[in-house]
Amino acid sequence: MKKSSAMAASCAPIPLRESSAAPHFSPLRISPDLAVPSYLQHTYWWAYLHPYGVRFFERQWLVNAILWGNFARLRDAALAEMGMPITGQTLQVACVYGNLTPKLADRLAPGAKLHVVDVAPVQLNNLQCKLGRRANVCLHHQDSTSLTFDDGIFDQVLVFFLLHEQPAGVREQTVAEALRVVKPGGRVIFVDYHRPVWSNPLRYFMVPVLATLEPFAMDTWKKEISEWLPESFQPTALHKETFFGGLYQKVVITR
Ligand SMILES: C[S@@+](CC[C@H](N)C(=O)[O-])C[C@H]1O[C@@H](n2cnc3c(N)ncnc32)[C@H](O)[C@@H]1O
Repeated sequence: MKKSSAMAASCAPIPLRESSAAPHFSPLRISPDLAVPSYLQHTYWWAYLHPYGVRFFERQWLVNAILWGNFARLRDAALAEMGMPITGQTLQVACVYGNLTPKLADRLAPGAKLHVVDVAPVQLNNLQCKLGRRANVCLHHQDSTSLTFDDGIFDQVLVFFLLHEQPAGVREQTVAEALRVVKPGGRVIFVDYHRPVWSNPLRYFMVPVLATLEPFAMDTWKKEISEWLPESFQPTALHKETFFGGLYQKVVITR
């Protein structure tokens, strides 16, 4: 996808250490060498890359409808894991349509910071417009499979409905990177699809929908997120909760 120069000028890498200087807004820098992954270009261009797609999907009611009215519930379940207020350094891996990120940013304690990465410049630009200029939020143009952050620098990491969009190998790298950058004792919060219970009528409706529109999503029905952890990784704790007859899950892994 062609990168817009307006976008390149709009937003900067965020210092990850607290500074005694007054907080300042960090503009986003688009990295010209970072390619949009092929699965995004081929499978999800209409939802996440095309400017009309972004304009169409960036509606709270629509993202809520796509999740069968569960957006607020799942958003709040994720936010509840982070505490109130949210302290320290938080990483959100990938932008999300709707008000998840603004709500997260609103909960930040003084001195706390939210970092959001996404591989699509158009998504970062959209998020910047949604958030306005906030000194406590920093947007980064990065790929979830090769984050440029040092090991163990985040207190918590949120991965909200990203894993089901990624092919298996990419997904495992995303999980590994999220676990790498979180501190020992810090938590990675995954919210995503999950196999519904037999009695959930959506179980039958969602198979053709997901198989057609989101070809990698059925993996979240067949496997547990815990099966995508790096072999060498031993979680200190793992907590799983399902929602809406099992169609959605929240998995919280403590490093
Ligand atoms: C989090 S997922 C989907 C979230 C949810 N379905 C929603 O309502 O927005 C969508 C985002 O993931 C981003 N994304 C996909 N693959 C990525 C990768 N490898 N690295 C970083 N961001 C990625 C896309 O650019 C898009 O902004």
